[in-house]
Amino acid sequence: MSEPSMSYEPKSVAAAAALLREGKLCAFPTETVYGLGADATDADAVLSIYETKGRPRFNPLIIHCADLAMAETLAEFSPLARRVAALWPGSLTLVLPARPDNGLADVATAGLDTVAIRIPDHKLALELIAAVGHPLAAPSANPSGRLSPTTAEQVRRGFGGKVPVLDGGPCRAGVESMIIRVEGERLVQLRAGAVAREEIERKLGVVVAVAAKDAAVAAPGMLASHYAPNALMRLNAEPQAGEAFLAFGNAPEFAGPMRNLSAAGDLHEAARNLFSMLHELDAAGAEVIAVAPIPEAGLGEAINDRLVRAAAPRG
Ligand code: TXA
Ligand code: MG
Repeated sequence: MSEPSMSYEPKSVAAAAALLREGKLCAFPTETVYGLGADATDADAVLSIYETKGRPRFNPLIIHCADLAMAETLAEFSPLARRVAALWPGSLTLVLPARPDNGLADVATAGLDTVAIRIPDHKLALELIAAVGHPLAAPSANPSGRLSPTTAEQVRRGFGGKVPVLDGGPCRAGVESMIIRVEGERLVQLRAGAVAREEIERKLGVVVAVAAKDAAVAAPGMLASHYAPNALMRLNAEPQAGEAFLAFGNAPEFAGPMRNLSAAGDLHEAARNLFSMLHELDAAGAEVIAVAPIPEAGLGEAINDRLVRAAAPRG
């Protein structure tokens, strides 16, 4: 297994690609969150993702591709899968039957006969994957159970400077991709994410079902407690003295540490700000973060999913 990387900062896509080709880890930006990347065909490199994140078990990882040709070497695309894939690049991950000869390290897919794939909508990410010439396994670049990072600085802080980061500035979307599993003629959402279910339904003219909470098909990584800040969280709440407050829309006056996800009540803006503002309120040192109610429509589904996990009892 490779040694923890030094705090060497790759200043270019070529430098980051060189690290990844040597079997090292390198964090990189996507439009959703920063990913902790490894060459998905290199088992040792993929294992060091689990090690570095402290991921409690070998949860399958999302495999990032540069283009459809690369994706097609990894999985079987049904006609319906192909229609969904036409929406790539984007914040949408497809779970498809794996091709037996796909070259992926078993640990990357946790030995499943399916594989989760996406083509990120981010110039640096696409250039990086193309420069490596192999698909990249990349979970969010945070220690397991902590907040996902939307800036390079959050990645550096999260891993104490031990992980090299290709800096691409703040992520546009700010929450992870939506995960859809193609089951015959059905689409099933396993994880709400940075695109709204309604948007996919409208673009494809196909209903997207939502996986039951405890369904066997649910993404195995969807642990109840996840995305946890240090502070405890109170949802749908008004802030009390001594707490920090994460507001949405019209906010009451508040004397303590406070951020507003979107004063205008815009859910895209709120999704983009979610993890960063939780990081900031956490850094302010409050023991409790009170969070205003967020509407469940559109991207609100993904935002509320992350908030419920952040608020879940820690185990
Ligand atoms: O936006 C994103 O998706 C980010 C960026 C970096 O691309 N990545 C990300 O990866 O969120 P990660 O590893 O944190 O989440 C992967 C999720 C987990 O919940 C995992 O269980 C699920 O995808 N998953 C992976 N392979 C799967 C499969 N074959 N079937 C069902 N779920 C799968
Ligand atoms: Mg994650």
